[in-house]
Amino acid sequence: MATNSYKDDEKQVEQSKAKTLGRLFKYLLDYKFKITIVLISMVYAIVISLINPLIMAEAIDNCVRKGNYNRLMLMLGIALVLNVLVVLVVKLRMYIMAKVCNDIIMKIRQQLYTHIQTLDFQFFDSRPTGKILSRIIGDINSLKDVLNNCVTSFIPDGVTIIAVMIIMFIKNPILAASALCMTPFMIGGIIFLEIKAHPRWQLFRKKSSNLNAFVHEDMAGIRVIQSFAAEKETEDTFDGLIDEHRKAFLSAVRLSDGFGSIIDISWGIGTLCMYFVGIVILGVDKVSIGTFVAFSSYMGMFWSPMFNLSNFYNQVVTNIAGAERVFEILDTPSKIVDVDGVTDIPEIKGNVKFDNVSFSYEEGVKVLDNVSFDIKPGETIALVGATGAGKSTIVNLISRFYDVQEGKVSVDGYDITKVSIESLRSQMGIMTQDNFLFTGTIKENIRYGKLDATDDEIIAAAKAVKAHDFIMKLENGYDTVLAERGGNLSIGQKQLLAFARTMVCNPRILILDEATSSIDTNTERLVQHGIEELLKGRTSFVIAHRLSTIQKADRIFVVEDGCIVEEGNVKELLDKHGAYYRLHMAQAI
Ligand SMILES: Nc1ncnc2c1ncn2[C@@H]1O[C@H](COP(=O)(O)OP(=O)(O)O)[C@@H](O)[C@H]1O
Ligand SMILES: [Mg+2]
Repeated sequence: MATNSYKDDEKQVEQSKAKTLGRLFKYLLDYKFKITIVLISMVYAIVISLINPLIMAEAIDNCVRKGNYNRLMLMLGIALVLNVLVVLVVKLRMYIMAKVCNDIIMKIRQQLYTHIQTLDFQFFDSRPTGKILSRIIGDINSLKDVLNNCVTSFIPDGVTIIAVMIIMFIKNPILAASALCMTPFMIGGIIFLEIKAHPRWQLFRKKSSNLNAFVHEDMAGIRVIQSFAAEKETEDTFDGLIDEHRKAFLSAVRLSDGFGSIIDISWGIGTLCMYFVGIVILGVDKVSIGTFVAFSSYMGMFWSPMFNLSNFYNQVVTNIAGAERVFEILDTPSKIVDVDGVTDIPEIKGNVKFDNVSFSYEEGVKVLDNVSFDIKPGETIALVGATGAGKSTIVNLISRFYDVQEGKVSVDGYDITKVSIESLRSQMGIMTQDNFLFTGTIKENIRYGKLDATDDEIIAAAKAVKAHDFIMKLENGYDTVLAERGGNLSIGQKQLLAFARTMVCNPRILILDEATSSIDTNTERLVQHGIEELLKGRTSFVIAHRLSTIQKADRIFVVEDGCIVEEGNVKELLDKHGAYYRLHMAQAI
């Protein structure tokens, strides 16, 4: 019973893998023209490689043996030109494919980035965002390998093997049958090994993910570990995990290496059979030297790709897990949806109004209580108050991450529940402490804000937020490749890139929810210009702990226990000697 359910699970997993692969391939449909060129070049290269042995056979049998050297030169000339062309065509194909794969990866990342912004926050409430997302973002890279290998290696390999078989059988069926006599044994052997290796690879993947999870947690908690002097225990656990990981890998790879031996043996025995049948049974005078030479070449073209193909399954299975995690997030629907017959909100001018808004996450626990305000287009509003006062909740309601229970939120006079979410959110920019920088160039990272942005727009955005200078000082300027999550940049630089990305997107309403909380005061001063540029000409909400960052706001709202208890500019609020004054004094100490 238990075994059965295990098998059912396995079957489902296989089906979902095929589905994921299919879904990944659908992205290729957007590049029909380029893929057609790739396919044509592939067919050309395969055809030429198939013709080569025939040209050789012709050259040996009809030119060399008959002393027709002029014809020999002509044949060699033709072969040379065709093969040089193959090299060029293959280079072109690799270039196009690399570009297409890159584009697709970028598209998937962009979808992920946009989708994550549209997800209702309950999604994040249930998982540790930063960690999971960073892993997923890394995962996307392995998708590139799956796509690229499938198109440039596995498909042509498969086609070549079938074509070689057909040509051999047409040219000399008896010789072909003897040359390929080991094929059934090889297939049987590989299936046997595959079945044996599968659970070992599964174990390896499990060990990998254990190790990953441990490393992530350890890194996140490194301060805690150090402060409790628990490094020794952690190190031992880590050594243990590494050892298990290594052993699992070796045991799996040892079996998979067996593929190579099976193929080598089949190849060798097949070649012997071919010569035996050709020379002894058919007779030397029946089979020409040229045919033997051609068949030897075909044998190489038949067996070599077999190794690739025999590894295909494991490679795909290993890499596809990343794709699954990405698609899982993309498929997570938001709980906040458009009502029937919604219309798009026209270009937002920037008026934001709360009418007696009350809100609770859980029934009976009011987090916002009767909040009202009216903000003019272009105003910068700072929200201050203790942790848990309700600041984030207020801004989350503006982007409709949650729906209010009482009252109304409107933008430019439109009730935001009556307009399409897409039209609303596409005109809003939200920045938090998490900047989501991806592996890729600086230019690409900025472009996530607006996929069709030109290079000039990107540079203009970077200049506006004062990121241009530091980018130009990097070795490759805008083409500098960032490590995962921008690991090779300082926190301030990452922040500036995130500003540039938001700038290029040009949102009409901008929300900075503690966007600068993770940076120190010095760095904050450096990015201050960037922030100021970003705020210009749009309605902005800034939540910041450091009061210095909000001095320039047009109005400050002091939030306490889900109510706005005070509002005004810095001077007015200080003069009042109220809640803001107390916050101010508390920070000054
Ligand atoms: N997803 C959630 N589910 C339940 N309660 C929440 C959630 N998010 C915030 N809260 C609660 O709502 C209150 C206001 O939180 P929040 O708006 O995040 O405060 P602030 O941003 O001012 O620190 C807090 O008491 C917090 O515990
Ligand atoms: Mg908050």
